[in-house]
Amino acid sequence: MGNTHRDHTGDRTIVRKAVIPAAGLGTRFLPATKAIPKEMIPIIDVPMIQHIVEEAVNSGIRDVILVTARHKEAIENHFDYNYELEDTLERKAKYDLALISKKIGNLCNIISVRQKVPMGLGHAVLAAAAAVGDEPFAVLLGDDLIDAEIPCTKQLIEIFQKQNASVVGVMEVPKDEVSKYGIVGGTRLNDRLMHVTHLVEKPPVNEAPSQFAIPGRYILTPKIFEILRRTPPGKGGEIQLTDALQILAKEEKLFAYQYEGTRYDTGDRLGFIDATLAFALKRPELCGGVIELMKKHLKSRV
Ligand code: G1P
Repeated sequence: MGNTHRDHTGDRTIVRKAVIPAAGLGTRFLPATKAIPKEMIPIIDVPMIQHIVEEAVNSGIRDVILVTARHKEAIENHFDYNYELEDTLERKAKYDLALISKKIGNLCNIISVRQKVPMGLGHAVLAAAAAVGDEPFAVLLGDDLIDAEIPCTKQLIEIFQKQNASVVGVMEVPKDEVSKYGIVGGTRLNDRLMHVTHLVEKPPVNEAPSQFAIPGRYILTPKIFEILRRTPPGKGGEIQLTDALQILAKEEKLFAYQYEGTRYDTGDRLGFIDATLAFALKRPELCGGVIELMKKHLKSRV
């Protein structure tokens, strides 16, 4: 089949599946993550993982493959119906609240697979191989929230369809931050598009091929699974997706696209607060109140 991919309707470039790795321990958010998955921590009242799943769904994806681990059942329950809750709310005529709960159960098909040992992002993606099968798929990392008019994953799918090749989303970062990300290098084709020839996972600043970083959004051909099976452990002794992408860039084509949108690093405490404020200010019922609160807190500081 080469590097073209066919769905049941015969279209070779439909992206129907997303893989969302959610197996991490969430140690950066202890003690909150002692008994609940970090993915369930909410930005205001919506768990982070719901924002990510909604990005996938709003990009046309219907099958979401969660790569989870022990003690992560709350995530699966969140995307299911909660009969007792919904029935109780309906009997009390609280139909709006019942609908909020039911709608989440109707968002998409959730397929759950386990990463039994924490051996890195590449290893987590490989755990989804059987569930994805021989078709292209998206990967969305849960620590990166991207607020965009056109969902980031949808922007990348459009590039995937035009180029018929894998594509990673990138953003430009300051030099002192390149060591936090997978960094791409290659030839610029236009304002936003790059043909990627090399990638480095978390390079020291003097070894970075550019300042274009991958904030956790990928559209990949299934070739990546075959490559991941032969990718040796890299940075931190873990199987790195970035290392597998370096091989993919040699064996097929790989593009990087500078997506339009604002990215929040919700895996970081300050990034999490930043996202919370930004999302609160976008909600009409909260905006005024939040501004008043910020004024009050700022006043008490000066
Ligand atoms: C992972 C990837 C890295 C990517 C980053 C985005 O690293 O390995 O290439 O740039 O996510 O958030 P992590 O932050 O999980 O260590």
